[in-house]
Amino acid sequence: MNFSGTLRINKFACFTLLFILFVIIYWRSNGGTYPTDKNEIINLKTLLTAAIHAAEYGGRKVVEGTNRDLNIKSKGKTKEGVNDPVTDADQASHCVMFYGLTKTFPKLTIVSEEHSINDRKCEDQEPFNTDTPPPQHRMIEDMNNELVFAKDITIWIDPLDATKEYTEGLYQYVTTMVCVAYKGIPIIGVIHYPFPPENPQTYWGWLAKKTSSNVANVAHQEEYKENPRVVVSISHQGKVSEMAKEAFGPKTTVSNAAGAGYKVMGVVNGTYDVYLHATAIKKWDLCAGDAIIRTVDGKMTTAKGDYIDYSPNADVKVTEGVLVTRYDHEYYLSKISKRL
Ligand SMILES: *[C@@H]1O[C@H](CO)[C@@H](O)[C@H](O)[C@H]1NC(C)=O
Repeated sequence: MNFSGTLRINKFACFTLLFILFVIIYWRSNGGTYPTDKNEIINLKTLLTAAIHAAEYGGRKVVEGTNRDLNIKSKGKTKEGVNDPVTDADQASHCVMFYGLTKTFPKLTIVSEEHSINDRKCEDQEPFNTDTPPPQHRMIEDMNNELVFAKDITIWIDPLDATKEYTEGLYQYVTTMVCVAYKGIPIIGVIHYPFPPENPQTYWGWLAKKTSSNVANVAHQEEYKENPRVVVSISHQGKVSEMAKEAFGPKTTVSNAAGAGYKVMGVVNGTYDVYLHATAIKKWDLCAGDAIIRTVDGKMTTAKGDYIDYSPNADVKVTEGVLVTRYDHEYYLSKISKRL
């Protein structure tokens, strides 16, 4: 009888089993990422889960900030001479969102509106949960895994959109946002409304897959082309209201609102037909909304009709104007392109 053969096989089987176990443990402790340097694999499902946690955690910091001295500083003035403030809440939210995501996915490129301040406590964040989404978003657990290379991913975060309105107590406009771009294309967007604190809301879209269940279906209505409901920015108004009326006709209704996240969501939920922005705007203000509007088959383009590139080395500013619609994008684009 030859015992050594079976022994060898068993040894081999044991070794293989141990190796697989080791890989699984290593993988889980790395937040669902494989540690193979350049070609590290990221699971988009775990990224969406972590992105929701990040936006909600940031939102709690934003709410907490209202109970303290806001410590408003200015980052300068916008082109229209509007003060561009930053508060301790922007920083606190940046800390948890940026460093939380960095700890969860060390290999990913993350672009944030705010910069890191020299604060050890700030960098000392726990990784986010990548397995279990918050209770209202449990449907994600039933979605398929989707693996991509880490090098193709850029995360854009806005730790507090509509800071000026936040300092004025106009909390309804305030959002925190996380966006995942794959090769420059926004594929996952999370927009979180931290206010009112007793009923915060998170909306998300994963391109070609699903939106969060709170994103409503909106029927296409042809007659809105005749009297479109357009939303423009309060703080960067410029001449855009007039331009909208000239471009879309006298029956156009123009409303003002703050926060790019808020305005895009207004188009997503059918409150507005068009969001028109004429001045320069940063990509962290747009990316998450871009991903969500794409997921519901709407569109965000520059006023020239180009898609926005969210690669890390592209310019962070969009200067050609922005047009967001859920329906009839080409129609509205043709109307404004004559005026720009
Ligand atoms: C739709 O979005 C706008 C802007 O974000 C918001 O003010 C409004 O409450 C939303 N409406 C619904 C029904 O969700």
